Amino acid sequence: MADERGSTKFQIDLRRHLRETGVERNLTRLICEISEASKYIINSIRTGDLGVAGTSNLYGEKQLALDVLADRILEKRMKHSGVVASVISEEQEQIIEFNPGHSDCYSVAYDPLDGSSLVDVNLAIGTIISICKGNALLGRGRDQVAAMYILYGPRTTLMYSTGNGVHEFAMNQLMEYTLVQENVTIDGNSDIYSPGGQRNQYSEGTERFVRTLEEQGCKLRYSGGFVPDINQILIKGRGIFMYPHLKNRPQGKLRMLYELNPMAYLVEQAGGAASDGKMRILDILPQEIDACSPVFIGSKKEVALAQEFLAAEGY
Ligand code: AHG
Ligand code: MN
Ligand code: MN
Repeated sequence: MADERGSTKFQIDLRRHLRETGVERNLTRLICEISEASKYIINSIRTGDLGVAGTSNLYGEKQLALDVLADRILEKRMKHSGVVASVISEEQEQIIEFNPGHSDCYSVAYDPLDGSSLVDVNLAIGTIISICKGNALLGRGRDQVAAMYILYGPRTTLMYSTGNGVHEFAMNQLMEYTLVQENVTIDGNSDIYSPGGQRNQYSEGTERFVRTLEEQGCKLRYSGGFVPDINQILIKGRGIFMYPHLKNRPQGKLRMLYELNPMAYLVEQAGGAASDGKMRILDILPQEIDACSPVFIGSKKEVALAQEFLAAEGY
């Protein structure tokens, strides 16, 4: 439906694309509701209070006013959508139930504002969304029915998949999301790598893996924002991001339900891979809503190489 990236012959908007690709009615409605919520989040980023909210989330991280604002915007939209059974938010301690028994509803796990600490230095941040059927939020990531993110960068873009490829949209001057490209694909070998966490806390296996990437000529690309760092790999079609197990943080930092599962779903739909260094992220059964996991995600070849180094040199 779109010719080369960025110059769509027709301004195909998000709702039309969802309908024309046969996405179920309530799921179409849900994805469009989330895209609407992003417009209010953009506004709060542009004009909102950058101060600290004075509260903290379940990780004990100080909640910035924007985190709380973005969380409230999304929760309200989900509640009034009429198609959401329950939500889990990075900014809330418990699962919030709206319509638990409703059979043709969906459940949503979201990070309302990922990378919020980057706002005051004007770097790109995002909203990450995982969608499951019914109330299956604590299931394996492979049971998601959709995933998406909105990237608030120099341009505001939206990436979604409902299991039939990954499709990119950009927000136009009327704040409509119009199709930029369909079937985004990760098919190249990495020439960029994103090493999250403190390098001196890396295991021997991870350190050897990163050294090998550097010897192969890979260039370091790490913004500190999960959404722009993953978006770069999807748009370039190659690269590897890692937030590995650290000596002082064996489970890494990133959260399964609303960071790793949705991004792993999108990356796999684009032909890439996502592993915790041993197994597929989407096969892991999270034990609690705040479960974290180490992650190596991006080009299949480098994710497999990471697993080999960890197996040989010790996890
Ligand atoms: P959040 O702002 O939602 O807490 O997530 C931030 C995450 C993620 O965006 C990024 O990949 C990672 O934190 C960066 O962590 P370090 O600052 O430890 O590199
Ligand atoms: Mn986050
Ligand atoms: Mn966040």
